[in-house]
Amino acid sequence: MALAKRTFDAVVVGAGGAGLRAALQLSESGLKTAVLTKVFPTRSHTVAAQGGIAAALGNSMEDHWIFHMYDTVKGADYLGDQDAIEFMCRTANECVYELEHFGMPFSRLPNGKIYQRPFGGQSIHFGKEQAARSCAVADRTGHSMLHTLYQRNVRANTLFFVEWMALDLIMNEAGECLGVTALEMETGEVMMLQAKSTLLATGGAGRVYQASTNAFINTGDGIGMAARAGIPLEDMEFWQFHPTGVAGAGVLITEGVRGEGGYLLNKSGERFMERYAPNAKDLASRDVVARAMATEIKEGRGAGPDGTYLLLKLDHLGAETINSKLPGIREIALKFANVDPIKDPIPVVPTCHYMMGGIPTNYHGQVVMPRGGNPEVPVPGLYAAGEAACVSVHGANRLGTNSLLDLVVFGKSAGQHMSDFARSTRSQQDLPKDAGEQTEARLARLEGQKDGEKVSAVLRDLQLTMQLDCGVFRFPDSLKSGVEKIREVARRAQVTEIKDKSKVFNTARVEALELDNLVEVAVSSLVSAEARTESRGAHDRSDFPTRDDDNWIKHTLWFKDGDRLEYKPVHDKPLTVDSFEPKARVY
Ligand code: FUM
Repeated sequence: MALAKRTFDAVVVGAGGAGLRAALQLSESGLKTAVLTKVFPTRSHTVAAQGGIAAALGNSMEDHWIFHMYDTVKGADYLGDQDAIEFMCRTANECVYELEHFGMPFSRLPNGKIYQRPFGGQSIHFGKEQAARSCAVADRTGHSMLHTLYQRNVRANTLFFVEWMALDLIMNEAGECLGVTALEMETGEVMMLQAKSTLLATGGAGRVYQASTNAFINTGDGIGMAARAGIPLEDMEFWQFHPTGVAGAGVLITEGVRGEGGYLLNKSGERFMERYAPNAKDLASRDVVARAMATEIKEGRGAGPDGTYLLLKLDHLGAETINSKLPGIREIALKFANVDPIKDPIPVVPTCHYMMGGIPTNYHGQVVMPRGGNPEVPVPGLYAAGEAACVSVHGANRLGTNSLLDLVVFGKSAGQHMSDFARSTRSQQDLPKDAGEQTEARLARLEGQKDGEKVSAVLRDLQLTMQLDCGVFRFPDSLKSGVEKIREVARRAQVTEIKDKSKVFNTARVEALELDNLVEVAVSSLVSAEARTESRGAHDRSDFPTRDDDNWIKHTLWFKDGDRLEYKPVHDKPLTVDSFEPKARVY
């Protein structure tokens, strides 16, 4: 049955920070722009970002974008693309002032300037002193950003399709993207949304782990769509574990707590980060702090009845600071850990937080893939931005508050390029005859499946495999068996049965379709991790404990077709300044 079709200049999949910033650029340039989102826009996962957005404004102390660039290259453990990093750090101030002028209610210093707090891995004078670079709205920065961008989009007449789940890319034989298929979750209707340019801004995929700071919607939908369309996935072995998720609940406790002066203790009350990072201590970069915490727990110095967590102390900051600068943290601690941080420390544990890898793009947001010997040929009409994309500014480890920056810098840049591209494409191209067939086949398989396994059972095994075999520390036997287990999970996911076939609200159908996407994320992550025989950033192997710059300063590309890997060079040349050469990374 041919699917109904609607036509736009641009389709944006996802209404988090990157999707909304791109949509704003498109709508304000007069293009008919549709945004598809599984949840109401202001419930997108950007809402959960707490501590700030990085920009070298220099409001609290001296700063410069070149210091920000140095920190980001070093934080990324020299796997980031230096052209994209320069672009991001140079553009940061402009993007933050733009948000301020859009009405984002930043916290203020006594002189009226935007409040900035220290975060991990931030320095001035190339590692010499701690910087304070994170521009904050108390501890609700993502919330404020999302509401601000949503309101601007309403004003710009962006068209929102709320509770719609994008399913597959529509590609033609020439490899051009002509839009997406999507499911209206309330009615079960499937439609084709045709567009001259399409953006995947679907966010991360942290639900691939059993314990995660991520929302339930973060199922890597754009990642799955790209993989099924033959686009490789880049650097999927690199997963960030945030040092401070509430133990047992996974909810994020911002690094801003440590930026304001909080610190971690083990069961003996020792401030153990002094042993692991003598200079930066609790504000070393996240991979370093997460590994230190995991080591404390492994070696029997964890707190609590079973020694499974560490303690984040902030009572010494005083009630006034906590209530004014960290009000959301107090609320989370009370609700999810049953402790009042004004009096007692919060039990915390490293928790899956962020996917450094994703859909390969350049800094214009164009999706790129290898063709004809060139590793980075743009896919016409297709863009990605935000956590779904790998541009790659975060390399092997992201610095805190560079994520909100990434969203607005590359959301805007993608929106600009998409707008130029849509204008240069005078008329809509005809859709191929088989447009929508891939989606219809996936849905028909789900409808028709008999005697299959429950989606929830397969999902549980997928999350457990990632948690046990692709965690903070990685071991050769576990990586090897993890690859085998995840391939088996992928096979089982092909024969899941949805028990509730009712089309009302479609929750069972949506969960099954999300599982398809999580499978691509999990397989690519484990296969890429097993192949990378070194330790770099968030990828730490017991059998290859050091960084191997001779062989591994290169990006991984995983292809779904053939479940195979290729590699491409890191961009070690910035746009206008000298390269930062790899050095030992100490904090
Ligand atoms: O700790 C935080 O507030 C998280 C920020 C981030 O992941 O960038």
